[in-house]
Formats: sequence, structure tokens, C-alpha cells
Amino acid sequence: MQPKVPLDFLGDLRRTHTCGELRVCHSGQRVTLFGWVHRRRDLGGVIFIDLRDRDGITQVVFRADVDPAAHEKAQLLRPEYVVAVEGLLAQRAPETVNPNLPTGEVEVIADKLWILNDSRTPPFPMEDRVQVNEEVRLKYRYVDLRRPRMMRNITLRSRISFAIREHLYKQGFLEIETPFLTRSTPEGARDFLVPSRIQPGYFYALPQSPQLFKQLLMVAGYERYFQIVRCFRDEDLRADRQPEFTQLDLEMSFVRPEDIFDVIEPVMERVCEVAGFKISRPFPRMTYDEALHTYGTDKPDLRLPPFREVTDLFTETGLVRDGLPLVAIRTPKTGPVSRKERAELAEFGRQRGLKVYDDINALAKKYPALIEQVRERVGATQDDLLLLATWEGDPPPRRPEETVLLACGQLHLHAAQKYKDRHGLLDPNRLVLLWVVDFPMFEWSEEENRWVAAHHPFTSVREEDLDKLLTDPASCRAKSYDLVLNGVEIGSGSIRIHRRDVQAKVFEALGFSEEEARQRFGFLLEALEYGAPPHGGIALGLDRLVMILAGENSIREVIPFPKTAKGTDLMCDAPAPVPEHQLRELGIALRQPVPTHPASG
Ligand code: AMO
Repeated sequence: MQPKVPLDFLGDLRRTHTCGELRVCHSGQRVTLFGWVHRRRDLGGVIFIDLRDRDGITQVVFRADVDPAAHEKAQLLRPEYVVAVEGLLAQRAPETVNPNLPTGEVEVIADKLWILNDSRTPPFPMEDRVQVNEEVRLKYRYVDLRRPRMMRNITLRSRISFAIREHLYKQGFLEIETPFLTRSTPEGARDFLVPSRIQPGYFYALPQSPQLFKQLLMVAGYERYFQIVRCFRDEDLRADRQPEFTQLDLEMSFVRPEDIFDVIEPVMERVCEVAGFKISRPFPRMTYDEALHTYGTDKPDLRLPPFREVTDLFTETGLVRDGLPLVAIRTPKTGPVSRKERAELAEFGRQRGLKVYDDINALAKKYPALIEQVRERVGATQDDLLLLATWEGDPPPRRPEETVLLACGQLHLHAAQKYKDRHGLLDPNRLVLLWVVDFPMFEWSEEENRWVAAHHPFTSVREEDLDKLLTDPASCRAKSYDLVLNGVEIGSGSIRIHRRDVQAKVFEALGFSEEEARQRFGFLLEALEYGAPPHGGIALGLDRLVMILAGENSIREVIPFPKTAKGTDLMCDAPAPVPEHQLRELGIALRQPVPTHPASG
């Protein structure tokens, strides 16, 4: 396609300033700016251009009486044309000052204009306040990334990565790369596989995390490792999950959990400072059990008040059945809640197996003294919403108490989110961090009908539970910990198993035969025989962390080129079918014909 206007060459042109830095003190200087035409207003004899670059926006004025040639050329300009301008920096008259722009007190009176490139009309304006469909944004991501919000987010991300590196280098950490073409590392998701051409029928797996490599680096004696690293997981996507995402991954030798906390807390303090937040240290700690019994989740949002079990108060009534928990959930400062809204909350609970008593006044008529005690226990006022919840049907088959509490946790959060505008508790400008510790070592997987590692199979069990690994796995606690920020799990780690015999026992508890364990993790078991030091570490989800610090609700807003919920890159149309000859080279034949219109969106 031919350019719409004659184009100039960049030649030896150099910018003297960026579009964000000029102030009154620069008045009288000749300046050269580069950038994109953000907005153009043509008032006849005067044309105003808002010129934009990464740094900001500066007003440029083309006046027919100052330079007729430049003014005439400026008539050709349209949004998103790429230009260079040269002129005199002038202070604006007081009545034309723009208080909303840092450069609002000055303007460039231009006498030279170079049009370096034209642009098609962009699919949407470069304004944050214009709502644009996300599919369109992702298809034209390079345009979307020009918008101030995205510039801010991506810049923040870069500054956070830098701050992390700077801090950890100073603490004696080495940044060490680990392979992407590797074997499966189990982190609970499916692997992305890469076929080998040289060895047909053999596949690499992209790492779900560098877990095993960082442990091997400890065996190798590197003592303090970190990496800001891409991880790959083929799992169902949500607002806080992407198939490729970034971790701040870290490992240390000769450590206890406290030593990891002592490294991470200052990192978090520094990162939050970069984003303009102040946080307090040390972060509170809560055991998994406590989190379960007060928030019904392993990632409590401490901006909310805890719920309380009131089972003991109601044992004599029909409200408690099979000894399962009865939970009082308070949502502060909702004000009056209509019958219809309460019914919706009850339905939300019902869908998760709960019986919800949403009409507290009715219950108070029947059990006045008890409800008074409930109110006291949860600290409810007349302005708060109070719900009681317990299990509705037959007791859940496994870990029944936990199942009920987890469902109550969901209801607790749902009610809080529903009224968040009224109570203001879920204020995104408040950052509340905590460590959740002492997780169970194993979780029962209904799907696989066996115990699976709650964190991963390389996690240490507490010394006092070592003997119960095979006899009573349900009661074993792990030396693992999660870092939770405003109800989001942003990090997870553990002290690892460094002894071969213990690792073999854990594999056995997980149901791996000796042969299976040797086949999959033989290299690790062998490495543990060559002087493996005690070690442990953690990985933080960088995308999630930046998302919260940027005040966004989806990690897609802080990833330059993210995938959609179906794992599609809408801009370059990946994944895509490959030509037959490439498949042949890899020794691959497809079982099903490739659909002509691959699913997008
Ligand atoms: P884990 O699997 O808990 O632990 O992951 C650590 C952190 O990574 C983030 N995260 C994700 N972020 C975006 N999209 C995803 N699909 C995704 N999956 C995980 C979360 C999570 O807390 N090797 C261990 C760490 C260790 O033990 O040191 C691991 O990967 O914020």
C-alpha cells in the first residue's frame, strides 16, 4: 500500500527532549521532538497537535504566520502519524495552560515538520476512558499497548523486575538460567510438549517451573539462586492464569522457612515501594488450619473480618447436623439487604452444598439468646449482614469439615464482593500480606483416586510426621508456605527433601512404584546421593503481583502479549496448523483432520 502522504527520512535528525519533560524553564530553547500524533485540532490559521511519546504529551503549534510551509504540511497530519518537529519552546498564556498535563504550561511553536510515517485510522482511540472490546484490543495489541494505562502497567512491570534484580544481587543471589526444553516437572498442570525432530517419537516438555533445576543448583553448591523466568502450564485459564507466565523463582541452601521469609519480605517491601505503596513488616503468619477455620480458604483476604464457627452454640437445635460446622458470616456495613438479594446469597451457597440461613431476624425470633451470642461472637452490628451456613445434604465423603468450611469461605467472599461498594473494605489501595504455613502434605484426588502432593512431591514433611508418611498421610503436615496478598496467592514455596530415603518414601506415599519413580525422577534421586544440602525456596507469580500493584483485575492487563481464555494469541493467530512436511519431519501423523477455522476467542 502506498503511503497516504509524502514521507520524510529520519536522516541525521536527533531528538533533544522527550514529550514528557519540557517545562517553563526550557522556554526559549529550540527543541526537536519525535512521537505520534495523539490529537489534532485545526483552527484554520493555527493547527494544534498533541504529540505523544512513551514519556508524555506535548502541545505543538503550527501557525501560518510563523511558518506557512510547516503549517501547510501539518494539514496532512492524522492520528497516529509518526513525526518529528522542531521549533521554539514557549510559555503558554495563562488562560491556555492545561493543568492536566505535566507539560501543560508550555508549547512548541513549530517551524519544521518531518512526516516519518503515516498510519491507518486506529481501531480505537488512544484514550483510557474509551471502553474497547478485549478481543479487538488483543488483535491490535501493538496499538493497545500505546494507551497510557498499558504504558503505565508495562513500565511498572519493568521497574519491578529491575528492583527485584537489584535487591537480590545485593543479597548475594546469582541469576542463573535453566532450560526450557526439558522433561516434565510436575506442578499439577498438563505439560506443553515439543516434539524432537532428531529423535522422532520423543518429546521435550516445557517446564511448569524450574523446580528440579533450582534444587540441582543447590546440590551443585550455588547456595543462593534466583531467576525471573517463564513457566508453561497447560491448564484451564482464568483472569489470574496464563499458559505462559512469569515467576520470580528463588532457592537457598541451609535454610528454614523463616530465612526465606526474611529474604522475601524486603523484596516485597521494595517492590511495593516502586509501585507507590507502603506495607508493614513482618507479615502476619497463619496456619492453614487457622485460615480454614476463620476464612474458609488457604488464601484469606485479611481486609475482611473472619467468620466464626458457632456450632457449639447450636448443638441442641436442629441446625447442627452430623457434627458438621455451623458458621456465622458477617459482611460489614452492607446496610439493609433486600429479601431478593438474600435469596441470591442463599442460592450461591446452595450451589456449593450449603444450607444458608439468610433471614437472621426470623432465626432471632426462634433463638433470641443464641443469635445474640452469635452477634457478639462475630461483632455484628445492625448495619451488617449476618448469615448462618452449614452443610445441606449427606456429609461430604472426604475431609467433611474442610469441605464445609471451604464452601463457607466462598460464600464469605461472594457476599463481601457483592457489597464491596457499600463497605469499602476491599479497597485495592490497601495491601494486606500474610504467610500461610503448615499446609497438609497431601490432598486426595478424586480424579486419580490417590493422594497427590498438595504443593509438589519434593516438599519436606515436618520431622514429627516423618513416620506417618505411609500409615497416615492425611495427617502429615508439610514445611510449605504461601504468600497471600489481598486474597490472591502470589507465591508458594517449601523446604525441600534433601535425603534420598525420604524422597523415595514420599514417592511411595504418592503411589509411584519404585520403577516409575526411577524413570521419572531418577536423576533427582541420584543427585540426592551426591551431597545434597538442606535447601528450600519459593516462587512468586510476577504477573499476579504486578496485576495487584497496578490495580488491575486480570493478569492480561500486565502482560504485553497475553493469550485469551482459549489460549489463543489473537494477534498472530497462534496456535496454528503446520504444513504437512513439518509434521512428516517430526514423525507425527494427526489422528483428526485439522479444523479449517481454529477456535479463537
Ligand atoms: P506454584 O505452582 O505454586 O509453585 O507457583 C508459584 C506461583 O506462580 C503463580 N502461578 C501462576 N501465575 C499465572 N498463571 C499461572 N498459570 C500460574 N500458575 C502459578 C502463582 C503461584 O503462587 N516450583 C514451585 C515454587 C517453589 O516451590 O519454589 C511452584 O511453581 O502466583
